[in-house]
Amino acid sequence: MPWSCGQTHCAHLHSATTSDSYAKRSPTQSGCLLLVLGIETSCDETAAALVVDGRRILSNIVSSQVELHRDHGGVVPELAARAHLERLPMVVDVALRGAGRGIEDVDLLAVTRGPGLVGALLVGVAFARGLALERGLPLVGVSHLDGHVHSAFLEFPDVALPLLVLLVSGGHTELVLLEAEDKPYRVLGRTLDDAAGEAFDKVARLLGLGYPGGPEIDRLAETVPVKAALEHFPLPDVRVDGLDFSFSGIKTAVRYALGKLPADARQDPEVIASAAASFQHRVVRHLTGKLELARLETNPAAIAVTGGVALNRALREALPRATFPSAELCTDNAAMIAAAG
Ligand code: KG4
Ligand code: ZN
Repeated sequence: MPWSCGQTHCAHLHSATTSDSYAKRSPTQSGCLLLVLGIETSCDETAAALVVDGRRILSNIVSSQVELHRDHGGVVPELAARAHLERLPMVVDVALRGAGRGIEDVDLLAVTRGPGLVGALLVGVAFARGLALERGLPLVGVSHLDGHVHSAFLEFPDVALPLLVLLVSGGHTELVLLEAEDKPYRVLGRTLDDAAGEAFDKVARLLGLGYPGGPEIDRLAETVPVKAALEHFPLPDVRVDGLDFSFSGIKTAVRYALGKLPADARQDPEVIASAAASFQHRVVRHLTGKLELARLETNPAAIAVTGGVALNRALREALPRATFPSAELCTDNAAMIAAAG
């Protein structure tokens, strides 16, 4: 059965390793610059990257498994873990060679320790532990969410703090405030049920669109003006107290609205496009409404939006003053893990 890699569905692997277990040499022995090899295998991307001082990317290699899972309509954990096992050694090798470095140049290993799919995480953690033991390198286990937050620093090294971050991916939807880089971030709000990307994927499936659903809905929504879409396929605004989010209600509203239509209308491309545009509009309003509330409450120096859903064009248009990392840094990657490490 296909699973989403969301927090709500998967067990987490916490503290798989500690930062000092393998610390046999100083992290800065190669000079004042710290070269970090990041490894990410929490979901369906096998990734490795080399980053200097948490800011400068030397290489950022991602092997996507989307093709492997597409026919199943979602990520199949066992397939994901096997693919990580097959691909990770090669991906790490390509990342080192792409950076023009050898493993002997690396000062620190950083690996995603969770949240994510347990089997998939284990592959990355076991590989990193082996490498750390063999090479006598220090190893740090990084939270995947911390990684997403740090993608902002890779794209905008001088981003001002406090930084308000809206993290919207297939597994997570969180509003966090980072007051200082060496302090843990503060979670201001999070989803009470589905993640935003998960909702895009589930609604796309209801509409008979492909996987992953976010880009499909984004593309279709561009073909219909919002006003016409809301008239043609009305959906309610999402209402949740405080700074938390909820996406399961809007998904259910799409299901009911489709169920009330005659069978042939459910296949009508115009109806599908209106449903996509109407749904996307409600989701974007929900996200931007909560972000604005958080901005008023925290008065941050900058706002960043990251995670796969941050690629959504309507969301980007609705937030002209926020910074959005580039596509390779918004979606799952190992550079963000190295930066957080
Ligand atoms: O951050 P990510 O690559 O992986 C996770 O950590 O989950 O995010 C993947 C999610 C998927 O749910 C996908 O449908 C969504 O990001 N996504 C989008 C768009 N591109 C990807 N959602 C809305 N609009 C998009 N253009
Ligand atoms: Zn992610």
